[in-house]
Amino acid sequence: MQNKIINEIATYIKEKIMDANFTNSLKILEIGPGTGLLTNKYINCINRINENNCKYRLFCEIDLIEINSENNLFLENVIKNNQNQKMTINLYNENFIAKNLEKKSYDLILSSFTNHHIQYTEVQLFYDKISDLLCSKGKFIFGEEYVPHFDLNNDAERIRSLVIYHNRIIFEATSNMLFSNNEIEKNCFLKLTELEHISLQKGINKDGEYKVSEKQAKSSMKEAKLNLVICNKIGPKDDDVDWGGVYFCVAITE
Ligand SMILES: C[S@@+](CC[C@H](N)C(=O)[O-])C[C@H]1O[C@@H](n2cnc3c(N)ncnc32)[C@H](O)[C@@H]1O
Repeated sequence: MQNKIINEIATYIKEKIMDANFTNSLKILEIGPGTGLLTNKYINCINRINENNCKYRLFCEIDLIEINSENNLFLENVIKNNQNQKMTINLYNENFIAKNLEKKSYDLILSSFTNHHIQYTEVQLFYDKISDLLCSKGKFIFGEEYVPHFDLNNDAERIRSLVIYHNRIIFEATSNMLFSNNEIEKNCFLKLTELEHISLQKGINKDGEYKVSEKQAKSSMKEAKLNLVICNKIGPKDDDVDWGGVYFCVAITE
């Protein structure tokens, strides 16, 4: 599912670049690039656009803000592999919430599965900051997991919502594991169930994971004057019940 979202984001970025007919510069901020899965994808797209189409002379400045320095090795490799005259990549090992950045300067702000690492008490600040940092017509493009709706002031409801969401994925991964004949695939599904258990525990303990519902995220974005123009549920798609899910989203400043 993560790969699907990352491909969706990269394809969208590529289409937007082609549509917008940028001829000089494009400024991108990625929040929480992790090991650079998404970063590599969109940088490859931009490089390909530049190589294949002389109409585009796209100069690109990319700021990566990653709080966890354990990912540095991966991200430094991304920088090393993409040193060219048309691309500058800056890596900041910092907390996005605390980092001082130039206002109204980014054409695109990207995040894949980072939003739910922002503490509940800082979520509004997170979206306000994104809204401030986007230039006019700029876009906030992201992938995110949303859980079933709950009352933020009711801890029992919050935990119930997390249990429903993660158990749904654990159930699906376990079924897939049992029905698969391929050992590598079986191990991937097993690993996924383990990761989901860890994620659930962290969410319950508010230990680095703070998932919200689609409705809560939309309300914080509205407050920040971010207008959600795309909010596509990628899966699971069996929905008379609100299980939560994985979403591809785009917001613009109002
Ligand atoms: C679930 S990982 C996703 C990584 C990557 N975007 C991907 O899709 O593979 C979330 C990432 O956000 C980073 N992160 C969490 N909070 C952050 C913050 N306040 N500022 C910058 N990065 C943050 C984490 O260290 C982690 O690398």
